[in-house]
Amino acid sequence: MLDKTKRGWWQSAVFYQIYPKSFQDTNGDGIGDLKGIISRLDYLQKLGIDGIWLSPVCQSPQVDNGYDVSDYCAIDPMFGNMEDMETLIVEAKKRGISIIMDLVLNHCSDQHIWFKEALKGKDNPYHDYFIWRDGDGATPPNDMGSVFGGPAWTYVPQLGQWYFHQFVPQQPDLNWDNPKVRRGLYDFIRFWVDKGVEGFRLDVIDQIAKDPDQKITANGPRLHEFLRELSKEAFIEEGLVTVGEAWGANVERAKLYSNPDGSELSMVFQFEHMCLDQTTWQKWDFAPLPLVKLKDCYRRWQQELGSEGWNSLFMNNHDLPRIVSRWGDDQKYRVESAKMLATMLHGMQGTPYIYQGEELGMTNIKLPLEEYVDVEIHNLFRDRTTEGHSPESVMESIWKRGRDNARTPMQWTAGENAGFTTGKSWLKVNPNHTTINAEAALAEPDSVFYYYQKLIQIRKEYDVIRSGSFTLLCPEDEKIFAYTRDTDKAHLLVVCNFSGEEQSFEIPAAYANAKRLIANYPDSTDQLQPYEAMMLYYED
Ligand code: GLC
Ligand code: CA
Repeated sequence: MLDKTKRGWWQSAVFYQIYPKSFQDTNGDGIGDLKGIISRLDYLQKLGIDGIWLSPVCQSPQVDNGYDVSDYCAIDPMFGNMEDMETLIVEAKKRGISIIMDLVLNHCSDQHIWFKEALKGKDNPYHDYFIWRDGDGATPPNDMGSVFGGPAWTYVPQLGQWYFHQFVPQQPDLNWDNPKVRRGLYDFIRFWVDKGVEGFRLDVIDQIAKDPDQKITANGPRLHEFLRELSKEAFIEEGLVTVGEAWGANVERAKLYSNPDGSELSMVFQFEHMCLDQTTWQKWDFAPLPLVKLKDCYRRWQQELGSEGWNSLFMNNHDLPRIVSRWGDDQKYRVESAKMLATMLHGMQGTPYIYQGEELGMTNIKLPLEEYVDVEIHNLFRDRTTEGHSPESVMESIWKRGRDNARTPMQWTAGENAGFTTGKSWLKVNPNHTTINAEAALAEPDSVFYYYQKLIQIRKEYDVIRSGSFTLLCPEDEKIFAYTRDTDKAHLLVVCNFSGEEQSFEIPAAYANAKRLIANYPDSTDQLQPYEAMMLYYED
């Protein structure tokens, strides 16, 4: 087991993200809950993970599935109560699993006491916890738009003022320039550290230092100053792991965020690799994956961030479509391609995050519009069809990129509702649960599940994965992603065929007698099979 009191333990760890609403229901209301997570801890221990990033479980009106918090120190009754949370922390710890909570610090819910107070008047002490501009209600202070469609300003007639929100109007942005806001947030963090939480994922952290008058949202001028204060005041324990969501991060910024001196965060989620298969900055304008660009992107992050900071490794989360449907083949080669993608990622330097169901090779879903729940999907359909896009083309975008693809319930069994609930599930269960489910995976030695289990073991056993240098092979090849990792004495070769056709690839001579650490086909031939992947290893 890792010594989690030491700074940097997370460099050897693998995390698993749980989206609580969709993980496991225990009381038949169709919504996953904390007791459900507790009941599945043995499964997660078997997989071999060291920590759980738990998407928000705090009290919330759930306009954006918990990313609109109305009480940072209370558990939403939908998920259970504080006792359940305490039990989860203790039971997880017994199995060597840390709980990492999701902190939404950029904004809160309009039902939070701070905002309710702020609405009472301009001289209310909480008024300055938010961002206001005077106006007459006819034209917003500027033309900034919200991430989920519509303007970023909402008018409050009784105050004669607009407030700023980067997301939906029910998620008013907090005014980080006000020291009282920052102090208040640090108190919430300390509350959870005292409960035994061992880390945090910080929602849209690059957007806290906004300046709406300059139309600045991400990477505002005071961002790193705020982060250093946050770290000093709230992340006091050496062993806490902190990961910031930063869509706007480049390598240089990531070096600040993840400075090994611990002055800011442990690492960030950056999204450069997740934005290559689209034609505009909008994810809805999808395009085929340009593998050459993807490889160059990974190469840059691996080589340039290296040990001057720390990478996080992920391809999935609750905001992204399922990777096997996106970069793999979710039909004929579902199992092969799911394993291939995992091999590509888990051979790299950084801390891997597995999103629930990824270890089963779960896929996207295709639903009619009215069956989706995500506010972003409905706003998109409204806005794009108003702008003149055909409803058919908008639905294509939603099927490919909608966030509910990742949010369908976890597939535990082939039975009714995939064993997720005995009631009516809050979001449709993917009909393919009859073949893709945990029970079947656990009974099949060749399953995607056991492949992930093995990748996790390999990471723990072979230090070259944590510390080796990265070299990209055949950078111009459009079908094969191959790289090596090297220390003075240890050498690892990772080869992945990103296509559904055979490819030729010459294994470098040095690896002629290397050990096959893992592979998704039983034997190698002189051709790479469709979606074939392997890791070869030798020591000098
Ligand atoms: C982050 C979350 C996303 C949420 C948004 C607003 O991007 O991952 O789910 O909607 O922030 O909080
Ligand atoms: Ca429930």
